[in-house]
Amino acid sequence: MKVINIVGARPNFMKVAPLHRAFSRHKDIESLIVHTGQHYDFQMSGIFFHQLDLPEPAYFLGVNNGSHAQQTAGIMLEFEKVLVAEEPDLVLVVGDVNSTLACALVAVKMHIPVVHVEAGLRSGDRKMPEEINRIMTDAIADQLFVTEHTAVLNLLKENIPTAKIHFVGNVMIDSLLYCLRSLDRLVKSEDEQVELENYILLTLHRPANVDKSAVLIKVLETIRKLTQLQKVIFPIHPRTLKNCEALGLDADLGKIKNLEMIRPQGYREFLELTRDAALVITDSGGIQEETTFLQVPCITLRESTERPVTVEVGTNHLLPDWNAESVLHLAQQIINGACKQGRIPELWDGHAAERIVTILREKYINSYVCDH
Ligand code: UD1
Repeated sequence: MKVINIVGARPNFMKVAPLHRAFSRHKDIESLIVHTGQHYDFQMSGIFFHQLDLPEPAYFLGVNNGSHAQQTAGIMLEFEKVLVAEEPDLVLVVGDVNSTLACALVAVKMHIPVVHVEAGLRSGDRKMPEEINRIMTDAIADQLFVTEHTAVLNLLKENIPTAKIHFVGNVMIDSLLYCLRSLDRLVKSEDEQVELENYILLTLHRPANVDKSAVLIKVLETIRKLTQLQKVIFPIHPRTLKNCEALGLDADLGKIKNLEMIRPQGYREFLELTRDAALVITDSGGIQEETTFLQVPCITLRESTERPVTVEVGTNHLLPDWNAESVLHLAQQIINGACKQGRIPELWDGHAAERIVTILREKYINSYVCDH
């Protein structure tokens, strides 16, 4: 069986790495990686291949700019050529980025079964491009692998047949455990804890938070207030940096004392920063899950989350309609110890990729052997 795994943007690499490893353990499976090129800077892409032991992609499509339509269409045109050349048995897509939808759409039209990993998540906010990508990809996928129970319910509401839906856990956590094990230590001693947990880690890149000048000014104000509480470490996303520069706000950021602005971090470096933070403030999807697993408190600056388990079970606090005062108030409470402990969600145990491969072998290899 030949499987093509799609990666495009930063949050894809850590999801595909454990799947590629799990596929590669079986002699009857050939696993290829196709990189669409959606993210292209070394810090946004190359470093992840290196740190996650991913092989060089078999194809690099090099589609990295333009509007959503241009990017999606560009990936479709290039990926179609790959499918004609390779004739795979399955195309596997992860998450919710433009590459996910673009490649799923090409495959399904060529009658190649599509596997969607991290299916069924819904924020309910159709203004987010990711929400459209999720809904569309789930509607055309043949096998849907989900990370939390609410995702199963979301898919059933959209009339996806039960037989296609599989609750298997979270491949992101497979990668997290894979890398944490090789970091120098998992558990902090009490002394280290005092020394380490003295900063807030901040990441922001969603268009809703960084594309409009009024909101970016609010971000700046929030950072100023937070730095009075603790040091703030801010690995700045290219989108956020470009917008700050365009609005001339980068100089103001540079002047804030107790703010450490750093370039986007590699996977391992970011995990270490997360593990050792007093608090993480973010608008990312995956970081809500990583903090939940690491039991580090998290504030999510968004109107809704597609990952409710991180709030209901984990350490995540959703803060809609936020402003500098409300962020500071909640951050203060958390740092003073008034935060929930959180538990690790069901099946987030480092074995999701193995479960997925077992199910796919059962469906696409064993059943084929039985039928013939
Ligand atoms: C994309 C995903 C988002 C994901 C995020 C993670 C979609 C619709 N969005 O958003 O779901 O959370 O990635 O990072 O697929 N840029 C660089 N270097 C790069 C990549 C991007 O400079 O390696 C610049 C681009 O030129 C652009 C900006 O960053 O100016 C934004 O990139 P874009 O592709 O729109 O997506 P993200 O905001 O990264």
